[in-house]
Amino acid sequence: MNIKNNKILILDFGSQFTQLIARRVRELGVYCEVWPWDVDFALIKEFNPKGIVLSGGPESVHLDDGPQLDGRIFDLKIPVLGICYGMQAIAHHFGGSVVPSDEKEFGYAQVELTNKSGLLQGLFDKEQGFLDVWMSHGDKVDVMPQGFVATSKTATAPITSFENGDAQIYGLQFHAEVEHTTQGRKIFERFLFGICACEKLWKTDNIIQTHIKSIKNQAGNDKVLLGLSGGVDSSVVAALLHQAIGDNLVCVFVDTGLLRYKEGDQVMQTMADDMDINVIRVNAQQMYYDALKGESDPEKKRKIIGGLFIKIFEEEARKLDNVKWLAQGTIYPDVIESAASKTGKSHVIKSHHNVGGLPADMNLKLLEPLRDLFKDEVRKMGVALGLPKAMVYRHPFPGPGLGVRILGEVKQKYAQILAKADHIFITELVKWDLYDKTSQAFAVFLPVKSVGVVGDARRYQYVIALRAVETIDFMTARWAHLPYEFLEHVSTRIINEIDKVSRVVYDISSKPPATIEWE
Ligand code: XMP
Repeated sequence: MNIKNNKILILDFGSQFTQLIARRVRELGVYCEVWPWDVDFALIKEFNPKGIVLSGGPESVHLDDGPQLDGRIFDLKIPVLGICYGMQAIAHHFGGSVVPSDEKEFGYAQVELTNKSGLLQGLFDKEQGFLDVWMSHGDKVDVMPQGFVATSKTATAPITSFENGDAQIYGLQFHAEVEHTTQGRKIFERFLFGICACEKLWKTDNIIQTHIKSIKNQAGNDKVLLGLSGGVDSSVVAALLHQAIGDNLVCVFVDTGLLRYKEGDQVMQTMADDMDINVIRVNAQQMYYDALKGESDPEKKRKIIGGLFIKIFEEEARKLDNVKWLAQGTIYPDVIESAASKTGKSHVIKSHHNVGGLPADMNLKLLEPLRDLFKDEVRKMGVALGLPKAMVYRHPFPGPGLGVRILGEVKQKYAQILAKADHIFITELVKWDLYDKTSQAFAVFLPVKSVGVVGDARRYQYVIALRAVETIDFMTARWAHLPYEFLEHVSTRIINEIDKVSRVVYDISSKPPATIEWE
């Protein structure tokens, strides 16, 4: 079975929701890929999708330099679904007209069915005859394209969807991919299974089996090297490679002394002891503290931490015989972003230090078994491969670790205080059932002293700041409104249990203008 046999192509016109479209399609069990709107048509033909989805986008179709739809996709005679900008591009292509709306429509709207619709029929609230949807657009279709019928409207917009049933071309002005469109999943289901006739093949077990097979094919009997960080992606790569090639996988785990509380031991326990994976632990704590001595500039600290990692990893790699491959935990969003159209807007990608370039003379080939997976798919795979849920669903942790959470110069004693305070905060978040409600939470060490009274004694010690945010994409974030009783409890525990701390503060800055990390 080829689980990529029936697949959907998503052409990205720059919408913030494009990846959500892909995740919806995949969740429903169909493989899809996201490509920039200006990709070569020959590649689309060769990809041979069962259907195409055109995403939304920030531009207007009537701008000469805006992204243009390649009309040859309609010669392929496969179903096409255009969402927002995608619908407008279809209208424009088939001779309709698109004009700026008098008012930009943003947020909830209720649409009403105005005609029979192959895509939307039967999904409307039976009693009220409405569908709750999410709108976000500045332009609208004003004159219908030839061969199409309008199928729904809102109180203010007469055309919010249209279709040409014979040609299987559909347009939606609203965003069916966001949660707020209550029947969004059903609409995609209708498109994928009712219209494109896809089969549900993209399921975790199938994905694992297929990936194991392809890793075996690629690596054969070669040895593969992997830098293990304790994070989700590298742990899942390790578990997957271990199933595929067993002891031919060699992992190097560098304990930098800047990891979370007892993280080094936990990584070894889970990966080496429980899962029987080949892991070499390098205890480099002192090397890191020495290298960071006297340095308080955040960027220079990052460079030192990243550079030292590469040096240590390289040294370990050179000790091993016969390694032919370097495995990396690249995931699909990284691939999409680095392939973004030259004209489209792409996000700034953070450079991760986890695996740096290895020297060319080692001639290692690159193995990236998670390249076609989204984070939620990687997580599901991790659990199915036997990794503990708590590890797989852990908040993200930056490559430089506690190094960017100790403000200014890094010292071993600061790292120890911080790891303890962070552990108390996280343990309590879990206990109070708040961990999964925050996207990222951690403690920060402030190297300033303040006065306190504990018992009858005066205490003149350091300050710990607690940071917790809610976010979807980590590009913007809101500080988490944690209950006062909870914060009080955590603060009391930290001050009582860590005598080098005299004060705890809570960070109430959102991003922007602040960033999530303090350095
Ligand atoms: P900021 O602080 O930029 O963080 O708002 C956004 C997200 O990125 C993580 N982050 C990093 N991850 N290396 C990493 O691997 C880094 O140098 C780094 N700096 C920030 C941060 O934890 C948050 O999730």
